[in-house]
Amino acid sequence: MVFPGMPVTLPVDVGPDERVLLVPRRDNNYASVGVVADVSERLRVSGRGLAVSLMGVHRATLGGASTDQDGVLRVDYEARPDATPATSLTRELEREYRAVVDEILELRGDDGRIRAFVRSITDAGALADTAGYSPDLNFDQKLQLLETFDVVERLKLAVEFQRERLAEQQVRKRIRDDVEDGAQKQQREYFLRRQMDAIRKELGEHDGSIADEYRQKISSAGMPEPVRQHAEREVDRFERMGDSNAESAMIRTYIDWLLAVPWAKRSEERLDPAHAREVLDADHEGLDDVKRRITEYLAVRKLRTERGMKDNRRSGVILTLIGPPGTGKTSIGESIARATGRQFVRMSLGGVRDEAEIRGHRRTYIGALPGRLVRALRDAGTMNPVIMLDEVDKIGADWRGDPSAALLEVLDPAQNHAFRDHYLDVELDLSQVLFVATANVADTIPAALFDRMEVIRFDGYTTDEKMAIARGHLWPRQVERNGLRDEEVAITDAGLRLVVTEYTREAGVRQLERELGRVLRKTATKIASAGQTTPVAIDRAAIVDALGRPKFFKEAAVRTAVPGVATGLAVTGVGGDVLFVEAASMPGKGLVLTGQLGDVMKESARIALTYVKSHATELGIDEGALEGREVHVHVPAGAIPKDGPSAGITMVTAIASLLTRRPVRSTIGMTGEVTLQGHVLPIGGLKQKVLAAHAAGLTEVIVPERNGPDLDDVPSDVRDHMRFHLVGSVDQVLALALEDKELALAA
Ligand SMILES: Nc1ncnc2c1ncn2[C@@H]1O[C@H](COP(=O)(O)OP(=O)(O)OP(=O)(O)O)[C@@H](O)[C@H]1O
Ligand SMILES: [Mg+2]
Repeated sequence: MVFPGMPVTLPVDVGPDERVLLVPRRDNNYASVGVVADVSERLRVSGRGLAVSLMGVHRATLGGASTDQDGVLRVDYEARPDATPATSLTRELEREYRAVVDEILELRGDDGRIRAFVRSITDAGALADTAGYSPDLNFDQKLQLLETFDVVERLKLAVEFQRERLAEQQVRKRIRDDVEDGAQKQQREYFLRRQMDAIRKELGEHDGSIADEYRQKISSAGMPEPVRQHAEREVDRFERMGDSNAESAMIRTYIDWLLAVPWAKRSEERLDPAHAREVLDADHEGLDDVKRRITEYLAVRKLRTERGMKDNRRSGVILTLIGPPGTGKTSIGESIARATGRQFVRMSLGGVRDEAEIRGHRRTYIGALPGRLVRALRDAGTMNPVIMLDEVDKIGADWRGDPSAALLEVLDPAQNHAFRDHYLDVELDLSQVLFVATANVADTIPAALFDRMEVIRFDGYTTDEKMAIARGHLWPRQVERNGLRDEEVAITDAGLRLVVTEYTREAGVRQLERELGRVLRKTATKIASAGQTTPVAIDRAAIVDALGRPKFFKEAAVRTAVPGVATGLAVTGVGGDVLFVEAASMPGKGLVLTGQLGDVMKESARIALTYVKSHATELGIDEGALEGREVHVHVPAGAIPKDGPSAGITMVTAIASLLTRRPVRSTIGMTGEVTLQGHVLPIGGLKQKVLAAHAAGLTEVIVPERNGPDLDDVPSDVRDHMRFHLVGSVDQVLALALEDKELALAA
């Protein structure tokens, strides 16, 4: 379509005519408006005949037409040159048109020539006609422009069309930009990935090779068949997923854990009771009972293995070592491992409140991990280690899940060949593991667990045993730890005994080892700095110099010097101990109890008071002594909760002592439950109590008659130094415990 002012070259023969009318035609229909064009040049186009260059001049409406004798179509027309409208009408439109076109050209990346051309056009109508050049306007739009004679109208139309074009262009550009953006990102990723691949290749772990490597590891891991298949499936999944995926990292972690289980690895177990006993003896002093039980256990296993009896479903007990701190429970566990040639892993259960700690979290949890058992096996590197369940009495102190339920399954030989960790979710055979549990006290072990335990008690050591342990183990170890040589320091027996009895009071030997360490540190410092001559002999003076004044002394003598204080014996979480029951009286009535006593202990105190009151005359207590008086019984240390009936006779003694003003003999300790009738009933933990009495410097112990047989458990070196009074009734107790002469109450 040709507009006024537009040059065009057409391959037609126009004869001699100087002017032609160019009319748009669609199919065979001619438009009603055309453009009168001047013939500016006649050309001969090679091979095509004639052509003319034309220049549009002005619009024209078509009139009648006829064919002349030469066969040329002649048309009447009415010329419609543009009328120039007032600039006020067109100025805004012109400006807008130029602006829109400018933008279009900008978007199209025009080099400036078209823009210059458009700028050169000053006539409003001609300006509108430049839209005719636009490749994006369609035939109808151009025709519409051509048919609009009114310049202002035409300009409006042109602006409208060009705006549409602009919008289109903009959308197109946005899309193009987006696509480009995406493409760039993809390209970036592509390059990064290529680099990663290269790095991987360099490290020898190409994608394919990761999966292949896994497959190879799996096939050589000796997994049970179902586990192996499961692992293979996971590797397939990993491979399908490619490594760009966040989940593939999780799968890798999972497979790594599966591979971390030492499926096929076992230590060669050494089932030689004699050898085991040697190892146990070498590592630990004393503990005869413990060692015997362990050796027996190994002997039975040995027989069963030799005689081809299945050892999987063994009688179902786990060795549980119960005793005060520092008595060697954990360390004998290590010895068991050494004696049997197994690996040793310690798994502390103290403070475990959640089943998931033992069993792991399901894989669907973010950051899920296997439980402690799987980790223990990984650490052990074998399927038959000794796993020490340390501090079973400390689980579930304030539990959320129930860790003991998981433990039950682990420890039950009928179930533990198919243990399932939540994370791994495959069956794990734990039947080869030798579980050894430890605890300080039996009462807080969950009952169901306790039921399956074969308990070995560690009651604590006597002074002689402690000295032997110190001599044979603690001293040499501390000498070495402090950078000294054996021949450089020596400690006398008297020195050792001093440390044991006057610087430590404990059932075990931990504090003893610490104190010896302190002594040796001091010695090491001297040797290192002051050029002290060696060998150094550690005597009393050196000990007092290093450790200060003795911390423990024969307290009982001081405490029981006044009437109303009796020395009782108790068992706590840290072993046996002496405790002083104090009684006092003041105006008032009834009984006051302090010292955080449990219900049972409070009842003992009531019984004790009732007994004393009802036997006042026999005991020689003044009628008036109880009239209008309140009795106060206190059991130090006030901050430590205590309970149990075994302080019964001690309370009676304290109250009786108070009211008769006869002090309690300072060398005597006692334990026993009391009834209203004045019978003395047996108590538990006798050995620990006697050891504590001995350590505290007491020389006589009042023991319930029926505990007589338990005295056999007391090591002979202690037994030989003490007198035991077996009693059946409270009057016997009081006869033994109270001094004959009365003392005036101080206050
Ligand atoms: N009979 C013994 N022979 C040699 N060393 C011993 C003996 N008993 C304890 N020990 C030593 O005492 C230290 C403390 O023992 P261990 O840690 O085994 O105590 P524990 O009974 O596990 O205490 P806790 O209940 O506090 O865990 C260890 O270094 C151990 O070697
Ligand atoms: Mg321990």
